Amino acid sequence: MTTRPGASVPGKPRVRTFMLLRTATPADSSKIADLHADSWRRHYRGAYSDTFLDGDVAADRRTVWSARLAAPTGSVTIVAEQGDHLTGFVHLVIDHDPVWGSLVDNLHVAHDQHRNGIGTGLLTRAAGAAGGPIHLWVLRQNTAAQRFYRAVGGQAGETALVAPPGGDPARLHGSPEKLRMSWPDPASLVAVTATKANDRTGSTITPRMALQQLGTASTFARRTPEGSS
Ligand SMILES: CC(C)(COP(=O)(O)OP(=O)(O)OC[C@H]1O[C@@H](n2cnc3c(N)ncnc32)[C@H](O)[C@@H]1OP(=O)(O)O)[C@@H](O)C(=O)NCCC(=O)NCCS
Repeated sequence: MTTRPGASVPGKPRVRTFMLLRTATPADSSKIADLHADSWRRHYRGAYSDTFLDGDVAADRRTVWSARLAAPTGSVTIVAEQGDHLTGFVHLVIDHDPVWGSLVDNLHVAHDQHRNGIGTGLLTRAAGAAGGPIHLWVLRQNTAAQRFYRAVGGQAGETALVAPPGGDPARLHGSPEKLRMSWPDPASLVAVTATKANDRTGSTITPRMALQQLGTASTFARRTPEGSS
């Protein structure tokens, strides 16, 4: 039997690995790009073209990430790491939409680290940085990620067509669709984390208290997002 990392095994306590979350710097761009490309290859095949995923994707991600982190206007990128290893990242475009709020433009966890709580930690930190509503787009085909978003309080909304990465239609396979997930009140997301933490420790941290502890960041200038997670 294979067991996913951090998976619940009857009779065995779950082992959560130590995770450090911090704001990304330009020095992180190559590692983030490599994780992003690997994650797209594993999870976006069928929506993005094989030619792109087997060809330009790594170079494309390196170009995007070195530009983003060199001048992070209107956005914040948070990385998760264990020692020298990058285990995940989230990229947030602050105040992207007057209705839906800040946009989670990318959220990816290293393949061998899924179900260790890293995605929850990153998304919760992004909600704290947003300090208001957040939303994102997830591929219709990506039902595993949709289960994750629902588990952390996300509400499914409308569907739309996926825009090709870098604006190049040849990078898409057919006409894939995406689904909006939203958290009108970021405290609803933090509530999941706070409840789990309270269950573990016996403390009584409210979602509002947890959100305040995460802090807010609203002083970022605007930048155009890619709109694909
Ligand atoms: C989606 C993703 C970010 C989730 O991160 P993660 O660290 O694996 O998720 P967590 O460990 O925080 O999961 C929290 C809860 O979400 C739910 N969940 C997460 N992944 C799930 C899955 N594949 N199936 C069902 N439920 C899932 C579970 O309830 C889980 O709690 P549990 O493990 O205690 O049961 C990660 O799996 C990933 O990087 N996937 C590939 C890239 C991707 O699809 N990114 C999203 C683009 S929109």
